[in-house]
Amino acid sequence: MKKRKLGNLEVSAIGMGCMGFTHAYGEGPEEQEGVRLVHKAFELGCNFFDTAEMYSYFENEEFVGKALRELPRDKVVISDKFWPEKLPGHTFAEDKLSEAGIRKTLEGQLQRLGTDYIDIYTEHQMREGNEEEVAFIMGKLIKEGKIRAWGQSSPTAEQIRKAHAVTPIAAIQSEYSMMARQWEKDVLPLCRELGIGYVAFSPMANGFLSGKYNAQTEFKGDDLRTVITRFSKENMNRNQPLIDLITRYAAEKHCTPAQISLAWDLMAYESLVPIPGMRREERVIENLGAADVELTADEYAAITAELDRLTVYGDRTGLTNLASVPESTIDQGEVYKK
Ligand SMILES: NC(=O)c1ccc[n+]([C@@H]2O[C@H](COP(=O)([O-])OP(=O)(O)OC[C@H]3O[C@@H](n4cnc5c(N)ncnc54)[C@H](OP(=O)(O)O)[C@@H]3O)[C@@H](O)[C@H]2O)c1
Repeated sequence: MKKRKLGNLEVSAIGMGCMGFTHAYGEGPEEQEGVRLVHKAFELGCNFFDTAEMYSYFENEEFVGKALRELPRDKVVISDKFWPEKLPGHTFAEDKLSEAGIRKTLEGQLQRLGTDYIDIYTEHQMREGNEEEVAFIMGKLIKEGKIRAWGQSSPTAEQIRKAHAVTPIAAIQSEYSMMARQWEKDVLPLCRELGIGYVAFSPMANGFLSGKYNAQTEFKGDDLRTVITRFSKENMNRNQPLIDLITRYAAEKHCTPAQISLAWDLMAYESLVPIPGMRREERVIENLGAADVELTADEYAAITAELDRLTVYGDRTGLTNLASVPESTIDQGEVYKK
């Protein structure tokens, strides 16, 4: 697969978001099958794998650790994230973002991942006001070889500037897709200006942009799509023109709507790396295959112009009807499984 740069790290143009294997989208595949899919992705050229301590509270890191332990460590790039507040199961007294708190958090993460360094270590859902302090601690961890690079998740442009001046950021990790273009205004241009990579999470808008879901699709259990607004029946119908658009281009380019949406993401910035979630073999093949779908500059401009004229209904938040998601908590507009 083609490669892209996130700071000094070289990663596959499309990575694998591992969250869904244990968290957020209802029951995933059995562990052994999940491990097989991670290995399948690697076999297809994907070397970039994303997890976080928040995902099913440490369980996702354990899963990723198991899956990656069987692959050569120097051939994979691990992206892991630390949550700024304590999670159930944290026993240490320190503030989570103090140097001691970050070091203890990192120790646990390294253990669960079965490695002695993390490639990109990202502050997940940032706190405000201590950007420089966290950046300074990250600089120390880089010097010590505990992490190779660091990042911020969903920061504002101002937070990026403050932190980057202290310890250069390799990549920010924020939502980006045809349905989530809010960071085009300031964060993407700033990443270009400062040479910072951009890891695009939920690049398929939680699967909506695959064109395989419709108002009749039933999501079960603690699948976030039972509550996130872009999947309400009304919004699924109202967003049909977007599916029609990508389906039309997919037919022209002899690929799938999912591939058009990922190929479009890739055109946004040469250091942008989408990390779709994929829990079935055919989707691993389909999504990673999008790296070979080339849109010309004219096609990209034409699709973007059509997108500009469309209204997108709903987003990834789901602040209503929470009763339907068992054992969940809400944090910054997201629903997290306990
Ligand atoms: N930093 C943050 O705050 C943050 C937030 C969210 C996510 N993330 C990271 O970003 C990664 C990706 O986010 P995401 O999982 O929301 O990504 P996504 O790719 O937008 O959505 C993933 C889901 O969409 C469906 N899907 C994906 N490809 C498909 C295809 N080709 N055909 C049909 N359905 C398809 C699958 O649902 P089913 O398997 O149910 O069919 C899959 O689980 C996560 O795994 C996580 O590592 C980070």
